[in-house]
Amino acid sequence: MQNILVTGSSKGIGRAIAIALASDKTHLFIHGRDRDALAETEKLVKDKGSSCSQIVADISTTSGCEKIVKAVGEKSLSVLVNNAAIATVAPVEELTLDDWNRTIAVNITAPFILTQKFLPQMKKGSSIVNILSSAAKNAYTNWSSYCMSKFALRGFSETLREELRPRGIRVIAVYPRAVDTPIWDSVPGDWPREKMMKAEEVAKAVAFAVSCPPDVLIEDITLGNLAGTL
Ligand SMILES: NC(=O)c1ccc[n+]([C@@H]2O[C@H](COP(=O)([O-])OP(=O)(O)OC[C@H]3O[C@@H](n4cnc5c(N)ncnc54)[C@H](OP(=O)(O)O)[C@@H]3O)[C@@H](O)[C@H]2O)c1
Repeated sequence: MQNILVTGSSKGIGRAIAIALASDKTHLFIHGRDRDALAETEKLVKDKGSSCSQIVADISTTSGCEKIVKAVGEKSLSVLVNNAAIATVAPVEELTLDDWNRTIAVNITAPFILTQKFLPQMKKGSSIVNILSSAAKNAYTNWSSYCMSKFALRGFSETLREELRPRGIRVIAVYPRAVDTPIWDSVPGDWPREKMMKAEEVAKAVAFAVSCPPDVLIEDITLGNLAGTL
């Protein structure tokens, strides 16, 4: 049985990844704060034959991250997906220090804490998947806190990869452009959501990457709509 943790799998890309990785050979640890949405993910994951544990935890705090660590316990993870993130979109003058610090906590510190805690339990052939963004490589007006966090997580991912390659643990960095998920509900402006990629496309790429034999090098995945406009 393969144990898999997907943070932020109550909705959006995380839910799609949890479903894509679900099978009768996997136990999915799904995570988020929204209990109703998590229950829906659990149903969808179980429909694919997977067993499942829900973890309700706010990862903007260290204690929330510790709750996840406690729920997984001593089990060895074959896949850790650091997916949960927030986007506070506003001009720099309008961002509050609280927005800035929460972005750091959820988007950078939580993946660091979870990676550090679970690494000793991860074996050769396992994978850490960090969901980054095209905002880890490009600057977008009004997205300063989000870009800051994704650029930082990219630096962490690339360094971690160098440390873990000799141990046979893959670090896969995923760089999607715009994906139609609930994250866009609170982004100001009119966005052509119907033209955005679907979360399922990102999930398919992740499922392919983690299913490759351990000696296959697969490290960066860039995804977007073919026109390259979103
Ligand atoms: N959508 C895009 O266009 C896009 C593009 C590139 C990269 N990404 C990246 O893809 C990943 C998933 O994004 P998404 O679009 O699927 O976002 P989403 O629909 O807003 O889902 C975000 C997930 O993260 C969880 N989450 C957020 N803050 C949390 C907190 N403090 N504690 C616990 N869980 C928390 C949410 O759980 P609850 O709601 O249950 O709290 C939810 O499950 C993120 O890393 C994002 O940066 C997204």
